[in-house]
Amino acid sequence: MAKRLSILGSTGSIGQSALDVIARFPDRFRVVALAAGRNVELLAEQVRRFRPSLVSVIDETAAASLEGMLPADPAPDVVWGREGAEAAATLGEADLVLSAIVGAAGLPPTYAAVRAGKTLALANKETLVMAGELVMSLAREKNVTILPVDSEHSALFQCLSGQPHQGVDRLILTASGGPFWRMDVEALSSITPEQALDHPRWDMGPRVTVDSATLMNKGLELLEAHHLFDQPLERISILIHPQAVVHSMIRFRDGQILSQMGPADMRLPIAYALSYPDRLPLGLPALDLTRTEPLTFIEPDAERFPCLALARDAAREGGSGPTALNAADEVAVAAFLKGRIGFRDIPAVVARVLEARPAGAPADIEDVLAVDRWARRRSEEEIQKV
Ligand SMILES: NC(=O)c1ccc[n+]([C@@H]2O[C@H](COP(=O)([O-])OP(=O)(O)OC[C@H]3O[C@@H](n4cnc5c(N)ncnc54)[C@H](OP(=O)(O)O)[C@@H]3O)[C@@H](O)[C@H]2O)c1
Repeated sequence: MAKRLSILGSTGSIGQSALDVIARFPDRFRVVALAAGRNVELLAEQVRRFRPSLVSVIDETAAASLEGMLPADPAPDVVWGREGAEAAATLGEADLVLSAIVGAAGLPPTYAAVRAGKTLALANKETLVMAGELVMSLAREKNVTILPVDSEHSALFQCLSGQPHQGVDRLILTASGGPFWRMDVEALSSITPEQALDHPRWDMGPRVTVDSATLMNKGLELLEAHHLFDQPLERISILIHPQAVVHSMIRFRDGQILSQMGPADMRLPIAYALSYPDRLPLGLPALDLTRTEPLTFIEPDAERFPCLALARDAAREGGSGPTALNAADEVAVAAFLKGRIGFRDIPAVVARVLEARPAGAPADIEDVLAVDRWARRRSEEEIQKV
């Protein structure tokens, strides 16, 4: 029987790649729900092609325009807003939910999917950054399997398969380093949004692409790995690996290392999460090791990439820190992309918001979302001062 899927963030980079995989295996997968933001033209096309029974968009206006574009028969239910995304995440028919809405908006539906006991293919790293403990403890309680989609975490998941937890000495996350990893620190000030969006290895949505250039993405992944694999922060390290062939590694306590390699194509980890534990014959070009550039691994430079230390500190301190870190970065990246602040102002804004963050740890998801709202307001104030 086909696996029934709910795709959250279907119009984004991950969502479109997932639908590309799904379309190759019509007997294996059936799409029962789609959720997106404002790109109703693309969403309408996806609805016509995949025929879900439920579709969610960001708000009522987007829902009205989508409804005007859909076939009368069969017409899916159209819903919107946080409740709409949660309805798509908890739809009774769905066996697996792919969480690929970008940013903090992805947290409520992802949490709802776990509460509903759905198997989760997790691309939205913000979920574990903002609410790692709450989400992982709920997943344990509900016996929910979380399958990582992020290529690094998919790599770690594959390397850890069948390995006893106590044998693990270190998780090594690789980072392509983005376009600027060798640039002079001073020259970073004049980087334009176009330069930051031109990633040398991966084709991704705008926020994660800019986060890859500041290495905040790796900081967020550090938090994601910490929660997902239940490993202390001191046992997770980061290496720049510009060729993006090794997607991450595990060093075991006997000193041996297992790595996972593959082409830089997100359809591979997406397909693995959707079909786990099977591997699908995707028909994509395989990695040819005789044609790859020599593989190199370099320690990231702390001065060039202050976001790494900000993320590590926020992770170590816990409480409201990781949520504030994520929200401030999301707002600062959006401001950078609009030309309101410079590239090096991104970590500066995040640092100031972190300094002012409220004490105490969020007790539930609503608390987490309250910290998120506070940090967004505060970030906006800091941006005005730049
Ligand atoms: N792209 C990658 O290669 C990659 C790799 C690893 C992890 N990730 C993670 O995967 C997630 C998605 O990344 P992406 O690159 O695919 O992002 P993206 O291309 O920017 O797409 C984001 C998706 O989220 C939807 N969306 C945004 N705000 C929404 C809201 N308030 N309510 C409902 N839907 C909303 C967008 O809808 P509209 O476009 O219709 O507005 C779109 O479908 C992120 O958390 C990212 O960190 C991505």
